[in-house]
Amino acid sequence: MIKLSSRSRKKVTIYYASVALWALLILTWYHYNYNYNYKSETLLNHSIYDMYDDHYNNQQPSSPKLSGTSNTGKKFPPSLADTATETDSLAENGDDAVDGDDLLFPNFKNTTVYQNLLDDYNLSKQIDFHSTVYDSIFQHHSMDSVLGNLNFQQRCDLFFKHIFLNNPNWIFDPTENYNVVWGAPFETYKKMHKEELEKAYAKQLQLKQQQVPIKEPTEVELHLKLQRLQRLERQKEQALKVQNAQPMKQQNQQNQQNQKQQQGGQNSPVQQQNQYGPLQNNLNPRDVVASFVDTPDYKEFQRSSYTKWKSHESDQKIVDNVSVLRLYNKCYLSNDEPKQQQQTAKFIKQQKSVIRQIDDDRSQIPKFVTSEPEQRIADVDFSEVFQRRVYPWLSYELPVFERWTGEIFNSPPNYRDILNDPTQPLAKSYSSSSSSSSASWPTSLKQSNNFLRNFKHACQGKGIVLSIADKHVEYTVSLIHLLRALNNKLPIQIVYHDNLNDDTKRQIVTAAREDFSHLPQSFQKIAHLFPSDYLDPKSKGLPKQEVWFVNTASVINERYKSQFGGFANKLLATFFNSFNEMMVIDADTVMMQDPKKYFQLQGYKDTGTFFFRDRAVIQNRHLSDGQFFHKISQSTVDSLMFDVPLLTDFTLRRDYFRGLLHTMESGMVLINRPLHFNSILMVVHMNFMHPLKRLSYGDKELYWLGFALAGDENYHFNKHGAAAIGEMTNPHERPRPDGTLHNSKELCSPHPGHISEENNHTLLWINSGFRFCHQAPMVNFNKEITFGSRLKSLPQTIEAFRAFYYSPLRIKTAIVPPQDPEIHHRRNIQDEPTHGWLMDQNYCQKYLWCGYSSIGGKVNDHEDNTMEGLVIEYGPKERAMFDYLGDIWIGVE
Ligand SMILES: *[C@@H]1O[C@H](CO)[C@@H](O)[C@H](O)[C@H]1NC(C)=O
Ligand SMILES: *[C@@H]1O[C@H](CO)[C@@H](O)[C@H](O)[C@H]1NC(C)=O
Ligand SMILES: *[C@@H]1O[C@H](CO)[C@@H](O)[C@H](O)[C@H]1NC(C)=O
Ligand SMILES: *[C@@H]1O[C@H](CO)[C@@H](O)[C@H](O)[C@H]1NC(C)=O
Ligand SMILES: *[C@@H]1O[C@H](CO)[C@@H](O)[C@H](O)[C@H]1NC(C)=O
Repeated sequence: MIKLSSRSRKKVTIYYASVALWALLILTWYHYNYNYNYKSETLLNHSIYDMYDDHYNNQQPSSPKLSGTSNTGKKFPPSLADTATETDSLAENGDDAVDGDDLLFPNFKNTTVYQNLLDDYNLSKQIDFHSTVYDSIFQHHSMDSVLGNLNFQQRCDLFFKHIFLNNPNWIFDPTENYNVVWGAPFETYKKMHKEELEKAYAKQLQLKQQQVPIKEPTEVELHLKLQRLQRLERQKEQALKVQNAQPMKQQNQQNQQNQKQQQGGQNSPVQQQNQYGPLQNNLNPRDVVASFVDTPDYKEFQRSSYTKWKSHESDQKIVDNVSVLRLYNKCYLSNDEPKQQQQTAKFIKQQKSVIRQIDDDRSQIPKFVTSEPEQRIADVDFSEVFQRRVYPWLSYELPVFERWTGEIFNSPPNYRDILNDPTQPLAKSYSSSSSSSSASWPTSLKQSNNFLRNFKHACQGKGIVLSIADKHVEYTVSLIHLLRALNNKLPIQIVYHDNLNDDTKRQIVTAAREDFSHLPQSFQKIAHLFPSDYLDPKSKGLPKQEVWFVNTASVINERYKSQFGGFANKLLATFFNSFNEMMVIDADTVMMQDPKKYFQLQGYKDTGTFFFRDRAVIQNRHLSDGQFFHKISQSTVDSLMFDVPLLTDFTLRRDYFRGLLHTMESGMVLINRPLHFNSILMVVHMNFMHPLKRLSYGDKELYWLGFALAGDENYHFNKHGAAAIGEMTNPHERPRPDGTLHNSKELCSPHPGHISEENNHTLLWINSGFRFCHQAPMVNFNKEITFGSRLKSLPQTIEAFRAFYYSPLRIKTAIVPPQDPEIHHRRNIQDEPTHGWLMDQNYCQKYLWCGYSSIGGKVNDHEDNTMEGLVIEYGPKERAMFDYLGDIWIGVE
């Protein structure tokens, strides 16, 4: 209804025209600068399968650098002459260029841009093993054209596009066997590498004869050599494929080329032989070879070469697959997190200016031009396409959540509503008004087809997670009783995989819900320490527990069910409980504090994790475990492309890398899911790669190793190693050989305990249940009473031992033994312990560990290497509380 004068109408027209003009200009500019998904018309009428279509066969793929700098706006074809020159000059480089291979850019590690970036970012990694996908990307693009032009999501798409390019059938295989396979593959290897093996062996023989000590190649040298050989082999294979696929029309031409190539292939060993000099002046090399080919020593040499080769190949597979996983998660699962978005945007902005600086020395940042093979791949949502390939073991179903009432939920329960507890965190995507206990996926996210991302947004609440099977029912009942005594208000999810008996559920629910008003005597002493509403007003009993059963049988793809079992169930429980803030515990974990207190630890608040250390026992782990892990961890190019930080000393200085067998005690693990979603997935995934799985005894080390591998070093360990907990040995029961008393104190107990780093005093939790000897039912009492070396205060009778083993651990003292920083023994002449822990095989079925308050002593008259640990004496009130909790756990009246 607004009337416009003709003048203002004119104004409007001019206005719109200029807006349109600007828009056109911007679009044009955008088109030329960010022609990321630009489909070249030249492609549309060609087929890679048309044998008479020369387009792909004759024309060298265009060089982005060359075409990008041309101002004509015509992308293809660039001057063929120029391209040829570039390829030719590469071919002269030797190894890496094979005629017909569309290798356009030199090995990216050899470029000055890359070298400059490493300097600028201060990146270095000793064995810098990278995903082969990067090789593929940087054969098509110069590094500066990628890093100088693409934003984070474009880099992601480029990476996944290349996985497709290299193998359209790529899928993660959870059943992959990474072991060295003998038989036919070994025979092929021997054939393919015949000359090289003979040469290497002859050289080794020669060195032996000259009595030159044979220097074992370092890891790095070996790695470089194997990588080079592997590249060559791949190229040979490719050349072979190309040859087989050559259309008739070009057969002749190609044959000539192949001949040339073959000649080259035959020439090189000869040349190299000359380079190393003749083996012996007066000996024909062929005779030398003949003299050893049948010797057992040479056979062994072949075998060991093959093993090295194969293990390198399997390492590469691991690197490739771990990279895919890490990047899929970062690219398509956590890419909706504002924090990550800001971080990567900042990273990329800064990187572009770094690239500009580097390139200023030369010319301009080359434009990014989609290569022809890349253009053939339609732009799809890689998040969707790849989720089932990266996670083929998921069934894409949610677990089933069953409340103690029998009520079934098919989606993460909303505990704020159910428990009417405003401190329970809501799902991140819920606004508090729209919360509803019957909601399935949050409506805003239902449209997304990414299951994992949906799951991330649907999880909510804070609670305790327990992964059990029927056989753990007794411990679970004890644990539930203990939680009642601790006045726990957090919900408990009992996650099981295959099946849980109704009877087991019945026992657990009864333990959680029955009236519990008959309290042990020991309660009287500490009743005043609890709040006035501690006992239920109606039943006068301990507070009831909110127990849920979570059935994860549905979450695993049927084909891969066998891969879960044992400790892997715990990993599964870590991922498929529905809490955002979780405390994952074992059934025999014994808490000494109200569970909510653990979430208030400063370390947890700072990092969203809290991990505990194991007993620092000097038990050797082969150093190669740590080296292997470092080797397959993220590479410098991961860091440059995707802002995945390299491992730092925070991880690499951990005791694990200095040869300690057990460093983490996973009986209690606190994780904030939204902060570490991707890391948890990595932890679970390690279970599928045997070489990674075997880096840990059970699930112990997998948590922090998985975090580190995901590029997430924001994890926190309690400062104190595990303590020996219980009652100290009477010093007079263990005099030195000369009758004097030891300087060190001793405490022998089957239970490790965990002391809060915040006050160096509070006992947070212990493991192995509350009985003195967890293994009591298996103990051979007849035998154990005969040794007479420990537990001397007890009558050495079966009855006394049995009663003691079955009764609750009485806690008076904790000793955190000192740990030599270099994990060395502190030898001394005073009969003092040389390290903090000693396992006495003779007691409690080999579970009795003695911890010492100090290690070392006088080394000689002048030197003393004593190192003190931490000794904590608990006061009467604390001891009374431990006694009460022990009585509850065991069921003492
Ligand atoms: C591709 O084919 C269409 C018709 O089939 C033709 O109009 C067009 O010019 C062709 N394009 C090129 C680049 O050859
Ligand atoms: C890397 O560059 C050096 C010269 O700077 C050259 O000798 C070497 O062959 C190149 N290596 C590869 C793998 O391209
Ligand atoms: C680069 O790393 C070295 C150690 O490798 C360190 O001493 C130096 O401070 C680092 N520089 C920057 C700018 O981070
Ligand atoms: C990943 O692992 C599979 C085997 O599980 C292997 O065939 C593949 O080459 C690996 N690498 C990549 C990039 O997928
Ligand atoms: C705990 O002990 C460490 C030394 O092991 C000390 O540095 C720290 O200050 C102590 N903390 C408290 C609260 O006493």
